[in-house]
Amino acid sequence: MNLILMGLPGAGKGTQAEKIVDTYDIPHISTGDMFRAAMKNETALGLEAKSYIDKGALVPDDVTNGIVKERLAEPDTDKGFLLDGFPRTLDQAEALDKMLKELNKEIDAVIDIHVEEEILVERLAGRFICRTCGATYHKIFNPPTVEGTCDRCGGHDFYQREDDKPETVKNRLAVNIKSSAPILDFYKAKNVLHTIDGNRDIDAVFSEVKQIIEKR
Ligand code: AP5
Ligand code: MG
Repeated sequence: MNLILMGLPGAGKGTQAEKIVDTYDIPHISTGDMFRAAMKNETALGLEAKSYIDKGALVPDDVTNGIVKERLAEPDTDKGFLLDGFPRTLDQAEALDKMLKELNKEIDAVIDIHVEEEILVERLAGRFICRTCGATYHKIFNPPTVEGTCDRCGGHDFYQREDDKPETVKNRLAVNIKSSAPILDFYKAKNVLHTIDGNRDIDAVFSEVKQIIEKR
């Protein structure tokens, strides 16, 4: 099963991705996570990505396409994969098509999680992440079962993303609203697009995600 998760910043891509990979045992390929790992390790890629991410802008297509191409060439993707946050421009969608043709693969479903803009702002403002395992929480909508302790790994060290500051969020939303429209048309034309209502709670959204995956 080769899947793409789309949705504006804060739509719940990462949250649903955690559940999908736990249930279906396929690798989670998040370009945002790959850039953040590179930033943490201060690699050349990380330094370049940081200059865009800190402003809420998109990292250039050639850089992003390059890291996805390398990742899709890894053997663990033979059992399927879940792309989260890629493609995000029409150029990326076309580049992905080309990569997949070379690998003799195709996309089975594109799941677009649709959430109202005011809700996205609230979700990003309250998000925090476990520094040890990367699990994502929300102060109000999705707190850990025991306050201050990660449900997944038992860690106690959490952080907020630099790009979740209100001024950066505004720009991220504007940039992503503009860039996503043509990709939705691109996948609609291929008959693989499923748009779901992401304004509901996490389990309700996941139940619809599962239905889509199991129908394919
Ligand atoms: P990336 O890391 O992909 O960020 P994003 O697209 O802005 O999306 P987020 O990760 O912020 O949101 P999410 O949809 O994963 O939501 P989450 O599940 O965490 O990219 C970061 C940056 O990297 C980009 O801005 C860009 O600069 C660069 N980049 C990445 N990919 C690129 C590409 N392809 N091309 C160019 N540049 C690229 O949930 C959010 C919060 O809501 C959490 O607190 C969560 O607990 C809560 N929540 C989730 N679901 C629900 C629900 N149903 N109800 C209530 N609360 C919920
Ligand atoms: Mg995410």
